[in-house]
Amino acid sequence: MYEPAIRRLRAFDRPEIETHFRSLDPQSLRLRFGVPMPHSTMRAYTAEIFGDSAIVFGAFPDSHLRGLGELRPMRDTPRAAETALTVEPPWQNRGIGDALLSRLIVAARNRGFKQVHMLCLATNQRMRHLACKHRAELRMTTGQISATLTAPHPTPFSVIEELAGEYHALARAILSWPD
Ligand SMILES: CC(C)(COP(=O)(O)OP(=O)(O)OC[C@H]1O[C@@H](n2cnc3c(N)ncnc32)[C@H](O)[C@@H]1OP(=O)(O)O)[C@@H](O)C(=O)NCCC(=O)NCCS
Repeated sequence: MYEPAIRRLRAFDRPEIETHFRSLDPQSLRLRFGVPMPHSTMRAYTAEIFGDSAIVFGAFPDSHLRGLGELRPMRDTPRAAETALTVEPPWQNRGIGDALLSRLIVAARNRGFKQVHMLCLATNQRMRHLACKHRAELRMTTGQISATLTAPHPTPFSVIEELAGEYHALARAILSWPD
């Protein structure tokens, strides 16, 4: 499995997050949000990305943020979170989305979420494939697929897995620091 450096994003990463969303083509933005999203709206979205107790992870395959995964607790469903992913077009189909989704599931598990929900357009074959690969239960609603993953109980190993991922990303960032 491809293992890009993945770490949790913080407020100081906001400029890179803005650049990431600006790098997405209209089709990727539509697949992510279900409707066309102008870049002006994306600026407002980025400003609030850490709101609602969201946990955001970034993938750095070449020391720059190329993929982003969000995990947000669902207000009306206890112990459930929703997730969404974006990978920049030139980096799509190389395993980054899969790696991000794996990390998001581990993060959800370690925080006591029992279910992780994903909503995508029914035409989004790549996301549907990834959801099935992670054993999600798919349900069709009007033009959309609702995918539900069941997160197992956390274990010391799942906590170590998440921590190791963070240290791995930190070590790679230090090693690739410009002279
Ligand atoms: C969906 C998205 C996040 C996936 O990330 P990614 O890095 O491109 O995905 P990966 O390379 O990790 O995995 C893609 C998988 O889909 C498979 N795939 C690619 N095209 C496919 C197609 N047309 N039909 C079925 N499967 C397909 C690939 O073979 C791969 O599966 P594998 O790992 O079993 O070989 C990314 O493409 C993206 O940002 N798309 C636009 C935004 C979006 O759709 N977000 C999801 C809404 S929440």
